[in-house]
Amino acid sequence: MDDIRLDSLEGVGPVTARKLSDAGVHNLMDLIVRGPVEISDITGMEKDSTERLVNKARQFLADGGVLAKDFVSAADIYKRRQEIGKISTGTECLDTLFDGGVETQALTEVYGEFGCGKTQFCHTLCVMVQKSQEEGGLEGGVLYIDSENTFRPERIVSIAKANGMDPQRVLDNIVVARAYNSSHQVLILEEAGAIIRESNIKLLVADSAVGLFRSEYLGRGTLSERQQRLNHFVHLLARIAETYNCAAVATNQVMSSPDVFFGDPTKPIGGNVVAHTSTYRIYFKKSGKKRIARMVDSPHHPEEEVIFGIGEAGVIDPEDPKAKKIKKKAGAAPPANDTEDAADAGATDAGN
Ligand code: GTP
Ligand code: MG
Repeated sequence: MDDIRLDSLEGVGPVTARKLSDAGVHNLMDLIVRGPVEISDITGMEKDSTERLVNKARQFLADGGVLAKDFVSAADIYKRRQEIGKISTGTECLDTLFDGGVETQALTEVYGEFGCGKTQFCHTLCVMVQKSQEEGGLEGGVLYIDSENTFRPERIVSIAKANGMDPQRVLDNIVVARAYNSSHQVLILEEAGAIIRESNIKLLVADSAVGLFRSEYLGRGTLSERQQRLNHFVHLLARIAETYNCAAVATNQVMSSPDVFFGDPTKPIGGNVVAHTSTYRIYFKKSGKKRIARMVDSPHHPEEEVIFGIGEAGVIDPEDPKAKKIKKKAGAAPPANDTEDAADAGATDAGN
């Protein structure tokens, strides 16, 4: 911990350190995650100085081997990618879809209509991440940003029991932050650095990432401001995931777009901002009692669909083992991106 204190950086005296820490920047990692523009905004320091400061911090941490260097060989990148951990979903079907599990150093977005299992999926990961590596976990804790008041410890208990784990210990390793409005939601994340390190957080959940922004910024006039703030939030999520080598999972509702006649008439609410930031996007869909998951956007996964269910153990494999994998259907993918106009059509929202 001491190695990343603000005052371990040459040129940072007690006054600067205080100014930064009053603004919520507590150590060198925070400096890098927030970036020079934002640090200048929140502290009133000149952009030039904050740029120098952030560069110095990056250099310092790179020299200390904490961060990847700016110019690196492909071999180094390969090595860093070898450090990517995977959290098993506890199901064969979804693990297949995720090619082993939900990755660290990446932002995974799960979107779908209400009741399709996004929250259940997050709860399951909260338990799975705590397992040993042999069992598909990362032996890490969870930071759960709950903006919809849908986090249920009872569900964690039942999922833990179904996995033969001690429910009390599992609960102890989950830090829940209830976000009351979108600014609070952003603040929680901005302040999360210390807790991520201290509690060995390996999974960061934002359920939902978009809901509060959507309810607070209504109407066309406020749309660009909403997108800008949402943009800030999801970028922060992605940067934290990369910097701390933890997995970030964000959920997103969909809304119906009556102008779509073919295929699935739903679109993710967050629109372009979320789509372009997330490394993986998974679309969940209800189909009778079953659920369908589809990998929509991924740098290296094939686009495919699997069937899963929800039960005591959280997300579960379907009963009919033959039904696990659906053959890829050409042209059936839901619209992966949203236009700003569509994102603003609040009156037709299908999410809750
Ligand atoms: P929104 O947050 O409303 O957008 O929905 P969501 O996608 O987060 O849905 P969620 O994950 O809350 O899934 C709700 C569904 O999970 C419900 O349809 C329930 O049927 C199912 N579910 C929740 N708890 C249990 C449980 O203990 N056992 C079983 N079998 N199903 C459950
Ligand atoms: Mg939910």
